[in-house]
Amino acid sequence: MDELNKLRKQIDYYDQELIDIFEKRMKIVLEIMSYKKAQKMPIFQEDREKQMLEKASENISNKSFEPEVQDFFKSIIKISRKLQSRHLFNYNIILIGFMGSGKSSIGKELSRLLEMEWIDTDVLIEKKMNMSINSIFEKYGEDFFRHKEEEVIQRLCCKNNKIISCGGGVVLRKENVENLRKSGKIIFLQAKPETIYQRIKNDTTRPLLKGRMTQTYIEKKLKQRNEYYRNSADFVINTDSKTKTEIAREIIVLLCR
Ligand code: S3P
Repeated sequence: MDELNKLRKQIDYYDQELIDIFEKRMKIVLEIMSYKKAQKMPIFQEDREKQMLEKASENISNKSFEPEVQDFFKSIIKISRKLQSRHLFNYNIILIGFMGSGKSSIGKELSRLLEMEWIDTDVLIEKKMNMSINSIFEKYGEDFFRHKEEEVIQRLCCKNNKIISCGGGVVLRKENVENLRKSGKIIFLQAKPETIYQRIKNDTTRPLLKGRMTQTYIEKKLKQRNEYYRNSADFVINTDSKTKTEIAREIIVLLCR
């Protein structure tokens, strides 16, 4: 028992050392962030994170701990991203746009790059109702869905530092746009009708396009909605022929300007 207590004391000592060093490290991370911001440099640099992981493996004296050291540094990298995001984005990053414009996939990618929580309004509605969007439309109709959507948006607006992907129709109600505006920066993901059609032509989860999944219909709907999207947005990003990572990086650069 004495031996165990002795060892535990050592662990406590090293934990305190870790805390002290970690605090110093986080302080420097924030200093670097401010410097990069002032110099208009990209804040999140994945190549630098890769170098850190390589260096950690090179510098370890007891190679049998290499997997754990790698895990440790991967966690540190994630925590550093999260810390910076918390300081840079004390508001929500809100994605709007037509169905198939990439709101969900780019939302998830932003969440990975920034270590911020990702929320999807459609997913929240589905969870709340315990039903798919298709079934909600079928059973209760579009008005009912819009009402639920408005409730969800209203509740989301007291949140902060989240990435929110909105359903394609949120901009149709001005209360939604007002609420979203108060809580963050709105980014309109724009895409051509042909791009949208190619992305969603085999998708059966969109009730508004059921039985009308054609490029012509998408074009018509887009024409009706484009003005709503543009008028609601702080930033417009074109997504045609770009990868989700390229688009997410573009958004980060825009917001850090
Ligand atoms: C809708 C878009 C859908 C979903 C619902 C209505 C719309 O979301 O909210 O089917 O009116 O454009 P996605 O844009 O995520 O598909």
